[in-house]
Amino acid sequence: MNTDNKALSTSDYMERIMQIKADLGNQLVILTHHYQRKEIVDTGDHRGDSFALSQRAARDENARYIVFCGVHFMAESAAILAKKNQTVQIPDMNAGCWMSDMADVVLVERAWNDVTQIVGDKTVTPLVYMNSDAAIKAHCGRHNGAVCTSSNAPKAFEWALGRREKIFFFPDEHLGRNTAYKMGIPESDLLVWDPEKPLGGHDPAAIQKAKIFLWKGYCLVHTRFTTDQIKTMRKNFPESLIVVHPECTSDVVAQADAVGSTSFIVKFTADAPSGSTVVIGTEINLIKRLALEYPDKNILPLHDSFCPNMYKINLKNLLQCLEQIGKKNVVTIDKEIRADASVALENMLTL
Ligand code: 13P
Ligand code: SF4
Repeated sequence: MNTDNKALSTSDYMERIMQIKADLGNQLVILTHHYQRKEIVDTGDHRGDSFALSQRAARDENARYIVFCGVHFMAESAAILAKKNQTVQIPDMNAGCWMSDMADVVLVERAWNDVTQIVGDKTVTPLVYMNSDAAIKAHCGRHNGAVCTSSNAPKAFEWALGRREKIFFFPDEHLGRNTAYKMGIPESDLLVWDPEKPLGGHDPAAIQKAKIFLWKGYCLVHTRFTTDQIKTMRKNFPESLIVVHPECTSDVVAQADAVGSTSFIVKFTADAPSGSTVVIGTEINLIKRLALEYPDKNILPLHDSFCPNMYKINLKNLLQCLEQIGKKNVVTIDKEIRADASVALENMLTL
């Protein structure tokens, strides 16, 4: 039965979803990002951060159908890595990402040309955060660069600097800066590229001197965390452990006890001793789920920050996707873009 115009109860949705899963067996795999709401995670076969899920998508040879419960760039990356006989679907095509929208391919290519005309095209490696659309990944692949995620960014920086002296990192300024600091690269070697200004807002001498170019993009969910919130939490819960995502600004990261990808945050919370207070600076749905999973720990958000894009996936649109398996909201990618983007993604998977 088709559920296009009907609202069902949560248990009815779950029952139908589980029935379709049972019917399709290992032909179907449902991947869910850590930021998905609880009931979506409960329907999934694998949950993880964007790196783990892309590895999973590249590995799942049996599955004919991959349904990706996350945002569009994640489903797109799975589609780039998928085999010819696999389809990737996303329950809501409008589940985008603000940060990924901040790097438009025309602006990225213009910036790349500006920089390479000044420093030469044999001195810079492009690195692109997973949170970007396929055209940016393709640009990166065409110039022998790699994709990276928040869990392997230092490795990707090391790889890139082993090849060439400079990196152009798109589109998250903060992940780029936090990674550079972690590797001992000082602020004086960084240059923030503002795509709205000629030459990114710099003169040629500054561009010659810079080691790492950081695209001026950011995540609205993670830049809401502040050092004042950390101060308040430390005052109210002096024994607490504070862990944040590397999309937070570097002053927040500097005052936290730990920083890492969503999978790192999950493990950090799991490893915290029973009875401890863990304060988390990332998307609220993950924090709420962790609080349910670890009732023996006091798990608190640093601030209530919510990603409406991730929240667009719900039981209704997931069921509709499954009812039209292989047909509804199939993520497709232009052949040339796919070929170039897969170079950058494969470079990441072999790091
Ligand atoms: P992870 O790579 O840690 O899963 O993060 C993805 C993301 O979108 C964070 O905002
Ligand atoms: Fe994009 Fe930020 Fe949402 Fe992650 S949390 S998907 S970076 S908008």
